[in-house]
Amino acid sequence: MSKVLSAVAWPYANGPRHLGHVAGFAVPSDVFSRYMRMAGHDVLMVSGSDEHGTPILVLADQQGVSARELVDKNHAIIAHELADLGCSYDLYTRTTTSNHYAVAQELFTQVWKNGYMVEQTTRGAISPSTGRTLPDRYIEGTCPICSYPEARGDQCDNCGNQLDPTDLIDPRSKIDGETPEFIETQHFFLDLPALADALREWLEGREASGTWRPNVIKFSLNILEEIRPRAMTRDIDWGIPVPLDGWRDQPTKRLYVWFDAVVGYLSASVEWARRLGEPERWREWWNDPEAVSYYFMGKDNITFHSQIWPAELLGYAGRGDKGGEPGTFGELNLPTEVVSSEYLTMEGKQFSTSRGYVIYIRDVLERYGPDAIRYFICAAGPENADANFTWAEFVQRNNSELVAGWGNLVNRTAAMVAKNFGEVPQPGSLEPVDEAVRAKVLAAFETVGGLLARQRVKAAVAEAMRTVGEVNKYVTDTEPFKLKGDDQRERLATVLHTLVQCVSDLNTILSPFLPHSANAVHAAIGGSGQFMPMPVVQEVSGLDDDADRSYPVVTGEYTGTPAWASRPVDVGAVVVKPTPIFTKLDESVVEEELARLEQG
Ligand code: MF3
Ligand code: ZN
Repeated sequence: MSKVLSAVAWPYANGPRHLGHVAGFAVPSDVFSRYMRMAGHDVLMVSGSDEHGTPILVLADQQGVSARELVDKNHAIIAHELADLGCSYDLYTRTTTSNHYAVAQELFTQVWKNGYMVEQTTRGAISPSTGRTLPDRYIEGTCPICSYPEARGDQCDNCGNQLDPTDLIDPRSKIDGETPEFIETQHFFLDLPALADALREWLEGREASGTWRPNVIKFSLNILEEIRPRAMTRDIDWGIPVPLDGWRDQPTKRLYVWFDAVVGYLSASVEWARRLGEPERWREWWNDPEAVSYYFMGKDNITFHSQIWPAELLGYAGRGDKGGEPGTFGELNLPTEVVSSEYLTMEGKQFSTSRGYVIYIRDVLERYGPDAIRYFICAAGPENADANFTWAEFVQRNNSELVAGWGNLVNRTAAMVAKNFGEVPQPGSLEPVDEAVRAKVLAAFETVGGLLARQRVKAAVAEAMRTVGEVNKYVTDTEPFKLKGDDQRERLATVLHTLVQCVSDLNTILSPFLPHSANAVHAAIGGSGQFMPMPVVQEVSGLDDDADRSYPVVTGEYTGTPAWASRPVDVGAVVVKPTPIFTKLDESVVEEELARLEQG
């Protein structure tokens, strides 16, 4: 058993989540975390809303509300969406808590004390017409590295490199097209070159493990070649104050949103432990070198997880060229795995919230329920290559795989048992055909489990569904519906018992992907109680200066998670006529949804 930190990317609190947001990390990380708990590991799964940064400010301005009001509203929306999707966070919190401020400031201070946070005079952009600071993301220009004409001031979406606004060729304001003016300003830079050797050593060790997705390790090693200091403070009045004398009280100097967002993994772990009443418990996942950590995200986040966050951790520990020593948190573990997905498009085009070209998660949840969309994401999401969501494929997979494949197996098993016995029957002796199907299902625990442990969700769900097909074939081969009369009753009991056992095991195997329906299937074949624990949304108060503020978090009690193993079904458990677990979708859904898209 290991301590497993499941660190899930922090959604930016600029609005409700759409399909593109959750396909890359929310569902895959939940499938992985649920599996790891089932396999007996001690999982701590944390995330939260990322609430600072200029885009929040700009949006709040547009909406005529304060940044605080905007994030309060969006955090609550996102927390509910993720909980409804079944994401089993131990804690889903937010970055505007006093606890998070304190942890982020501790990190910054120690990195600075160790000499890896250096003050520099630099140039910042302002709008010549308004005199206001122009946020990096609102500056566009040509990428100096790949010549992409629409690179942003903070990052090029074409080549993935991080940029500073002053790097851009022909910079212009995205707000009104004017050419920004650059003025002198003081900032703290993370001395990445002084941490480069330590970063390389860590990354080469990770490369040698052979477990990272090839694109991710290649990209991460590559960006080391271009390494240079990066500004970790900004001219902005929304964010975490810079915790140094002469800076603390400056109203327009704040920590860079990405400096604080990645610290969230640590601050959320600390918050979780504090709320548990065991304030040091987080250390088991962070200070013990045997503990492992898996970071889940979309590919535009790789740099921050394989370079900036590890550099913050190395700087904090004093493990760069300038030496130093760890602060009060001690030596913190670097990521074991950076698990990044690729991009998802919809009907062949990029999601765009501004153009209304988007499917909101809450709409999908309301219309089709959580497991239909979880299934699609697992089976056809952007795990290793860019993927495309189409409503036609969604309906087709739902109907032919969930309904006609798995749902049908569960239904006819329960229906035959209910009709013939009313309870799980006692089997007679097994024939080779029965032994064979049992062996196939038992083997699936190994294959599917092995794939999930390596975050290969797509291959894992395909293998699980292939096994469902084998069991459906067993029904065809043994024809239990033709076993009539007293002389065949024992054989019928054996086949149906075998089927219930196979359905029970397949339900265990499918439960990380389909946790909501796992509970329904469990009940349908005579099981009692909840099978898969579910997250809950809880209203909590801040822990420090913000004790008067209350906000929702996602949390849960997952200790009752079933083991990743076959459980003998209870002979005599009552089975009643089932109601279908999955809903067949009419083909008209495709046209309806496409029409909605066009309306925007
Ligand atoms: N908010 C970022 C995004 O939406 C992700 C941040 S992940 C973090 O792309 F953990 F670093 F915060
Ligand atoms: Zn570029």
